[in-house]
Amino acid sequence: PPLTNRAAELLDQLDANLPEGYVPASIFGDPGIYQAELRRIFGRAWVFLAHESEIAANGDYVVRAIGEDNFIVSRDEQGEIHVLLDACRHRGVQVCRSDAGNSSHFRCPYHGWTYASDGKLIGAPLWKHALEGMDKEANGLLKAPKVESFLGLVFASLDDTAPPLKEYLGGMGWYLSLLFGLDEDGVEVLGPPQRFVVEANWKSGADNFSGDDYHLGTLHRSVWDIGAFPVAFQDNMMGYHVQAAPGHSLSFSMAEDPDEPGPNFFGFPESLAEHFDTTNISEHQLEIARRARVFVGNVFPNFSVLALPMSEDGEKHAPTGILTMRTWQPKGPGKIEIWNWFLAYKNLSDEQKERTYKAGLGTFSVGGSFEMDDTEPWITVGRTGRSVAAELMDLQLNYKMGLPGVGIAREVDDWPGPGKAYWSRYEEGVQRNLYRYYSALMRAEDGEWPVTPLE
Ligand code: FES
Ligand code: FE
Repeated sequence: PPLTNRAAELLDQLDANLPEGYVPASIFGDPGIYQAELRRIFGRAWVFLAHESEIAANGDYVVRAIGEDNFIVSRDEQGEIHVLLDACRHRGVQVCRSDAGNSSHFRCPYHGWTYASDGKLIGAPLWKHALEGMDKEANGLLKAPKVESFLGLVFASLDDTAPPLKEYLGGMGWYLSLLFGLDEDGVEVLGPPQRFVVEANWKSGADNFSGDDYHLGTLHRSVWDIGAFPVAFQDNMMGYHVQAAPGHSLSFSMAEDPDEPGPNFFGFPESLAEHFDTTNISEHQLEIARRARVFVGNVFPNFSVLALPMSEDGEKHAPTGILTMRTWQPKGPGKIEIWNWFLAYKNLSDEQKERTYKAGLGTFSVGGSFEMDDTEPWITVGRTGRSVAAELMDLQLNYKMGLPGVGIAREVDDWPGPGKAYWSRYEEGVQRNLYRYYSALMRAEDGEWPVTPLE
């Protein structure tokens, strides 16, 4: 479907203004932009759905969304993973009425058509009277055309022309590996994900996790006031901003001195870190993980990862490494459902797992002390995005940090990883990378996969 005139105008503005560091405010609220995103971004890109440890046993399933559409992510009786559109082939009724579970089949509540966990139609009531002769094979639940896993992370794309997942991730795969592949035995989820609805636009989450470190000293000031994080604010602003691949960006808090005392490995316990090695990753990846205090990044479009040392109370408990994954699920131009998982390295002791889970729940979770810091401003970004005045007065938001002559950021020429890296986290090229790719994919013809330049 063609873009609305207003959506086309906003994308023209974005393309014209982004090189100067400006983004039109109305992309955070315009309904025409939002409808186009559902079709052109979420209908095409590789979208994160689940971690394999959530569906560890045959028959396990979870229900997850691509854009606004629900899919059953199931592991069939042979152990293979399927991503099935949750819409009965008879009248389109929602087949699966539970968020997660274990079942050998799914039975539609309307007339009882029944599907196996791999999506095949296996039967229906009164088959001999009503349906004898109809082709079962051709009437299974629809499957997402592309499903792939990367280090336990399950993604799907609704576009059969999508490049392989590894190619889509590009350099971002290298950085995800130094987190998810750091320990030989990998990671697992700690309990079910949290979900909460916020009246904001999904891009605010993606934008923030691409490397908005500048907000830490203001919005999250209380983190330092109560001593919840073990690195002083100014020191924590030192590190690298990385445009890993078109659309995918991340940030590391890291001292320039490689022998700085730490914390290392995102604050995970030394007893675990002793076992981190190069089984799955290179020396360079291991060295970056060792020196990193924080990893925060966004896989385009709406999958974010954060690892850092935190304490939920600052005084009673020493900070410990926490690992969280988020998705910013679009539910309308001004609404997101945030999904928040906590994970742990499998080789942590049970006691350490409990410690990291509690530290995560106490800080970056719906009931945590810092999560709501972020959602408050994002709500008002969405309000500005819907604003008539912003439209009439042509409000362009400032993303200039790190452009030539603006601020202290400088390109790093001996960075050992893929993509482009900038020193110090006072930098917004990571977000410009997000919006450059976003705009290109919004404009791309079906079947055409844009590659946008890194800065
Ligand atoms: Fe599902 Fe009729 S709508 S069985
Ligand atoms: Fe934040």
